[in-house]
Amino acid sequence: MSAVKITFVEISGTEKVIENVEVGDNMMQIAQANGVEGILGECGGGCACGTCHIYVDPQWQEAVGEASEVEDMTLDMVYETRKPNSRLCCQIDVSADMDGLRVMVAPETL
Ligand code: FES
Repeated sequence: MSAVKITFVEISGTEKVIENVEVGDNMMQIAQANGVEGILGECGGGCACGTCHIYVDPQWQEAVGEASEVEDMTLDMVYETRKPNSRLCCQIDVSADMDGLRVMVAPETL
């Protein structure tokens, strides 16, 4: 398995650079395991709560991909802070082409 580097930018602006992320790992679980502030993950990754809301740096949107229909409906719950590059990070599993990925934690709205 190859490893990649991912950066989470917290709401405060603090950057959490996480090295050696395994391909296939889940972004929400990575954030929680590394103490990224603002990723609550209250539904445990079930795509039901919207508390793992992030913004994907535009240059990485293609590598990360689009939200599914179910994720899109859950993102509607956080409509006040939703942007075109919003994703729920529990719905993103790391792939090899995400090496260097940068995402911003969205403000809490729930
Ligand atoms: S952890 Fe609940 S939607 Fe992602």
